[in-house]
Amino acid sequence: MKVFSGYMQCDAISKGFESMGNESMKVMLIDDDRECLESLGDCLEIEGYETLQFVDPLLALESYVPGSVDAIVTDINMPGINGIQVLQKIKSLDPEAFVIMLTGYADVENSISSLNSGAYTLLRKPLKIHDLLSTLVEVRDKRRENTELNKKAQELDRTTEDLDKTYEELQNHVVAVDQVQSVISKIHAAIDLPHILNEMVAHVSHLLGCQYSVIKVRDGDRRYCKCYSVNEHLSGRHCSKADCMDSPQIVSWLECGSTWFDNDPGEDMIRVLKKYEIDATNLIVSPLTHGDKALGILVGFNKPGGFSGNDKFMLTMVSSIAVTAIFNNGLISQLKELFETTIESLVKTIDAKDSYTRGHTGRVSQYTLAIGGELGWDEEKLNQAYIGTLFHDIGKIGIPDHVLNKKGKLTSEEYELMKSHVTIGYEIIKDIPKLKDVLDYVLCHHERWDGRGYPRGLAGEQIPLDGRVVCVADSFDAMISNRSYRNALPVTKAVDELKNGAGSQFDARIVKIFIGLLQSGKLEGISAASLESDDMVDQRKQAG
Ligand SMILES: [Fe+2]
Repeated sequence: MKVFSGYMQCDAISKGFESMGNESMKVMLIDDDRECLESLGDCLEIEGYETLQFVDPLLALESYVPGSVDAIVTDINMPGINGIQVLQKIKSLDPEAFVIMLTGYADVENSISSLNSGAYTLLRKPLKIHDLLSTLVEVRDKRRENTELNKKAQELDRTTEDLDKTYEELQNHVVAVDQVQSVISKIHAAIDLPHILNEMVAHVSHLLGCQYSVIKVRDGDRRYCKCYSVNEHLSGRHCSKADCMDSPQIVSWLECGSTWFDNDPGEDMIRVLKKYEIDATNLIVSPLTHGDKALGILVGFNKPGGFSGNDKFMLTMVSSIAVTAIFNNGLISQLKELFETTIESLVKTIDAKDSYTRGHTGRVSQYTLAIGGELGWDEEKLNQAYIGTLFHDIGKIGIPDHVLNKKGKLTSEEYELMKSHVTIGYEIIKDIPKLKDVLDYVLCHHERWDGRGYPRGLAGEQIPLDGRVVCVADSFDAMISNRSYRNALPVTKAVDELKNGAGSQFDARIVKIFIGLLQSGKLEGISAASLESDDMVDQRKQAG
């Protein structure tokens, strides 16, 4: 083994050493001894390394570009600037740099300084080239490892960024869900569809932060008829801008696919919308569909900065609520219609059975609603009163015709049978959920304030108010109507009977209210003047 200017010659030593493979390593060599430097460079180049050789360490530092070489091999003892300073400078520029220090055996102090300053390793002089080559292979492997690690770290960074983005989107969605839920809770307070849609459209503008929003609902097949729209200056009222939905061209543009938005609508659309006084800068659209059926459309116009995926998410949720409301409203309307038709049929059945009470049911309803109005009943309660009074004599269906239409006085057995119409009526409707709130109209309309009524003999305020009210209305109409067993009383006489019965047969408060209604002429078909004459009775007699 030959030693040459501090380095062992390499030709024989490197034989059998691991090949560099296809990947060439670039090594910066720094040594003030030109002969040693060139000898070392030659050895490495023979082994397939590319070298950058510097006799002047300052020039080496000037030329150094972080990451441009795979390793730096530097002597320590050099004039001007020593190897440790070179190491420190390089590490300050590139902490990842692999710097191999060449030092003498006795140079303990420099060895320690080198390691403390971040040298990868120290190789003793005279250098065995084999040691350097194996160290460079180590460096190569370390660099590969580091590259892999860096790649993984970058991937991790990207994944973290993606996660951050997903989290942010999720947060936005959570906020959106909260906002939509707050809209839903406000909308749920509304009962009828127009109210629901008006509430919805008012909240959509606020929710999306856009200038206008419009809901159009189809009436059956193709035509858009009902329109609810709002803008920032016209909260909750009809807006002429919604008339754009009357344009088939606009509708064909809007009514496609699922929710979509366009922050740069084409010139054609802008021009057509302008005809409807909409200066559209952008728009978001959600067709309201149930299965294959188009129920309507929900559109938002003009959001500063444009609509986003989050707006699309929110509008899709709101439109699904609108679809449910519209669809349910259709079902409710059908059920309501069916219910009303059924009630009308039943009332006709009662009236047809008892020829003397024809029209009685309708009049009792009218009087009861008038009294209810004076008592301050709300719409729901008045609706119950209407249905309850229509049903109050439903039990007469179960009374035999010869008793119901008997001319002359009933026997005590027949009277007992007749009285059973209240319990028969109660039994007929008691299991119908829709009629559970009107049972007292049926069961209690023949109870008396003094407790001598039927079927239960309740007294005073034991009798439900519904029963006390309909009792006055029913009795008054019975008195001024012809019956099979007697003629109608004049209105004045009937009023006297009510007054006489106040506090015994009737609730005096209800009698007072009813007479007040009569005197003020608020009851259709009974003029205030009829209280002074018997014209009305004459008319009824002629009609009866
Ligand atoms: Fe009755």
